[in-house]
Amino acid sequence: MSFYDAQVEVMIDTATLAAKVRELGAQITKDYQGKELTLIAIMKGSLFFAMDLARAIDLPLKVEVLGVTSYQGGTETTGEVRITSDVTKPMAGKHLLVVEDIIDTGLTMKFLLENLGARHPASLKICTLLEKPARARTKVPIDYKGFVIDDKFVVGYGLDFDEIYRNVPFIGVMKGK
Ligand code: IMP
Ligand code: MG
Repeated sequence: MSFYDAQVEVMIDTATLAAKVRELGAQITKDYQGKELTLIAIMKGSLFFAMDLARAIDLPLKVEVLGVTSYQGGTETTGEVRITSDVTKPMAGKHLLVVEDIIDTGLTMKFLLENLGARHPASLKICTLLEKPARARTKVPIDYKGFVIDDKFVVGYGLDFDEIYRNVPFIGVMKGK
């Protein structure tokens, strides 16, 4: 048995994730026809999803990464969001699609919308792989959504528990937690 099979119980398997990425990519391709898109992957959690999504989008596309942190470690947000690494170019006049792994309390996305919105993009939309509505503390408009999940702490496909498990190729729940 592999390391992650022993520790993580499958919630959304690899094939289901891949099918959803294709579906989201096709929808985004349709919605942005004739435009150039700038995809902003939020580090580190969304990197795996965002890079798969980028390859499912058939448009002229630029990739930026933006690092934020709201956790001190463990499974609870501190509520305070900080940029740890900013994008490399001015975002004014660009069609921005922020790609997140999960919207949990919504505090990270609220901060990102305010921060990126202030840079005068041509448009600003959100794509998240997962949403955990049970824990929402603020309402954010989600334009593209993969899956709505129950209030469980999940790992894999980019999501971590104390920085481990990001490379697990499916979304799962830690066994015994
Ligand atoms: P929010 O600000 O509470 O919406 O949290 C967003 C960030 O918290 C995500 O980008 C994740 O990095 C992290 N997060 C929230 N829920 C989970 C989870 O179930 N597993 C792993 N990370 C999570
Ligand atoms: Mg995290």
